[in-house]
Amino acid sequence: MSNEKEPLLVVKDLKKYFHTKSGELKAVDGVSFSINRGETLGLVGESGCGKSTVGRAIIRLHEPTSGQVLMNGKNILEYKSKEEMKHLRQSMQIVFQDPYSSLNPRMNTFDLIADPARVNHLFSSEKELEDAVYDMMDTVGLTNRFAGAFPHEMDGGSRQRIGIARALILKPEFIVMDEPVSALDVSVQAQVLNLMDELQKEFKLTYLFISHDLSVVRHISDWVAVMYLGQIVEMSRYDVLFDNPMHPYTKALLSAIPIPKYGLQRERIYLKGDVPSPLNPPAGCRFAGRVPWIPKEAHEEHPELREVEPDHWVRCTCYQYKS
Ligand SMILES: Nc1ncnc2c1ncn2[C@@H]1O[C@H](COP(=O)(O)OP(=O)(O)OP(=O)(O)O)[C@@H](O)[C@H]1O
Ligand SMILES: [Mg+2]
Repeated sequence: MSNEKEPLLVVKDLKKYFHTKSGELKAVDGVSFSINRGETLGLVGESGCGKSTVGRAIIRLHEPTSGQVLMNGKNILEYKSKEEMKHLRQSMQIVFQDPYSSLNPRMNTFDLIADPARVNHLFSSEKELEDAVYDMMDTVGLTNRFAGAFPHEMDGGSRQRIGIARALILKPEFIVMDEPVSALDVSVQAQVLNLMDELQKEFKLTYLFISHDLSVVRHISDWVAVMYLGQIVEMSRYDVLFDNPMHPYTKALLSAIPIPKYGLQRERIYLKGDVPSPLNPPAGCRFAGRVPWIPKEAHEEHPELREVEPDHWVRCTCYQYKS
């Protein structure tokens, strides 16, 4: 049996609450999903819904408040020893949205890519390190002449290639891509997305791909999860979610994308009101205030994420009681 369909990552009831001056902010409030080895889960939703916090909590850049994150069956949130943390730091990586602000401006390309390998004592000699860095530059499409160049001397696409190389040199199994192409020109976006696709196949990488833009997610995702106010409201294989969206929030997001099949031919759905505050989320359905056609139970009961057809989960009062 091929092991390609085994989940590499299983996230169970992940919560991340921030203690702020105004009270407890529920940035991520019970998120569960799994990602098969070599596949991509696209995580979409509006600004502030908790996407980055999910990505950071999984790799423990933010310590989660509760939940489980199983990688190859081991709960990495229980890792404590130096050895375990080293393994976590190597096997789980993140690529950030804005490579300009995430790269040290005083380091050149070579040193930026060598840095994570040096910190993790990955190579025993400088020669080995040098070979690996040049090899990695080649892998991500940076020619040797860039080795001495500094971030400000390079364009956005090349800078993001450095960000990807920095992640890849540690030979991770899992990478959080947090809006990796959002800061790039549209023409460059496609090149970088293609690169990520090729790298995924070549190195059997597993991605959590975060974006506020469904049309970007569609190119790279096997599965898509839609987030709203700290929770997943719909999740399925990408084609099912695009062809048969069930949650009114997914429908509204899809109606806004400039792809004739999904967006323009459907009637544009405008939501009313604003996203409620994660400091004080509604007790019932968190989406209830945004649409005019909800049943009265929605104000009272908080709907569960429910599998309404095989591999298609929806958190909506309208689907709670359907068998
Ligand atoms: N370190 C922090 N301390 C307090 N609150 C935070 C912190 N980081 C994020 N938040 C809050 O958590 C919520 C989720 O933020 P997050 O950055 O995860 O959203 P996002 O979906 O990634 O948004 P964007 O699309 O703008 O990147 C927001 O209300 C945000 O203000
Ligand atoms: Mg974010």
